[in-house]
Amino acid sequence: MKTKIIKLKEDKLSKEDLEIIDQAFRDGKLVVFPTETVYGLGANGLDPDADKKIFKAKGRPSDNPLILHIAYMSQINELVKEIPDVARELSDNFWPGPLTMIFNKSDLVPDAVTAGLDTVAIRMPSHPVAREILKYTKLPIAAPSANLSGKPSPTTYKRVMEDLDGLVDIIVDGGKPSYGIESTVLDLTSDPAMILRPGGVTKEDLRKIIPNIAIDNTIIDSNDKTVPKSPGQKYKHYAPQADCYTFAGDPFNVVNEINKRIETNKDKKIAVLATDQTVDEYEGAYMVINLGSRENLREIAQNLFEALRSCDDNKVDIIYAEGFELRGLGVGIMNRLLKASAGKVVLGL
Ligand code: TXA
Ligand code: MG
Repeated sequence: MKTKIIKLKEDKLSKEDLEIIDQAFRDGKLVVFPTETVYGLGANGLDPDADKKIFKAKGRPSDNPLILHIAYMSQINELVKEIPDVARELSDNFWPGPLTMIFNKSDLVPDAVTAGLDTVAIRMPSHPVAREILKYTKLPIAAPSANLSGKPSPTTYKRVMEDLDGLVDIIVDGGKPSYGIESTVLDLTSDPAMILRPGGVTKEDLRKIIPNIAIDNTIIDSNDKTVPKSPGQKYKHYAPQADCYTFAGDPFNVVNEINKRIETNKDKKIAVLATDQTVDEYEGAYMVINLGSRENLREIAQNLFEALRSCDDNKVDIIYAEGFELRGLGVGIMNRLLKASAGKVVLGL
């Protein structure tokens, strides 16, 4: 398939481009567009054949449900059985933005979207281009991250092209998403509401509205071997080719531990994921990637997936990643690092 590339003009889509994208959705086609978290691979969420194409293009396991993206709160009515009061409060506070809420689904939502579950995930993105598209089409758009299954979510146009050029109908080049990790997934069908995937809207943010909020332990504790409640969390997503290890604790001890390991693996190509504060400390490594300042977790999150992908480009054997405190956005970052490390994590250094 020949993929049509759409570029923004002065950060916006033209009226013609919006029309082309809307028509593509109505014709059951696949469109990649930027969101504030990561790029999404969209199709009409009410068209099961189009939704199935998403799974095929990504090579996604068929038991992993998709998120529906909307522009207006009123669109929810026909997609869910009931809207809990807390959902309205959450939407007032965090929508549009990087929060996905899970509801009991209505009969209108196809099984192809929910992978046969009785629940449906819905999110209202804040990225101006995503919003323009969703406002124009008014269809609920099913969209997973726009990567091939098993690769880190794409946070640049270049990575989208690498994975999906030739496999989708349209790709919108929308620059770099501001969050860099996927949305927080919050299950409102369990009591208390439970965070199934940590992201840009943090547990601390959500606690202001749901004081007794729960968090699925498997997403932050690599020793917890119970099955995660969100199907997507059980896959070894985000995983780079290299053998990855994460070390957290006192930054000084972390630097020492990583340097010790570099020393004992001298024959290996080693990449270190470091920070502004530590980037000059790893002389023996093959490459040192600076994720940004520890004082600015948004910056770290923004650069994380690109760093993992560049380790693959450079065919490194081992990645040693510095960890972060399990607070605020640090929880989302650590969840992605735990997955990239497939559980090989040393905490409390
Ligand atoms: O930030 C995001 O959420 C991005 C952008 C494109 O919006 N999308 C995204 O989609 O990350 P995806 O498909 O890569 O991840 C969706 C996650 C998966 O872990 C999936 O299992 C979970 O949400 N999910 C979807 N529907 C669910 C449901 N009904 N119950 C439990 N988990 C669900
Ligand atoms: Mg994904």
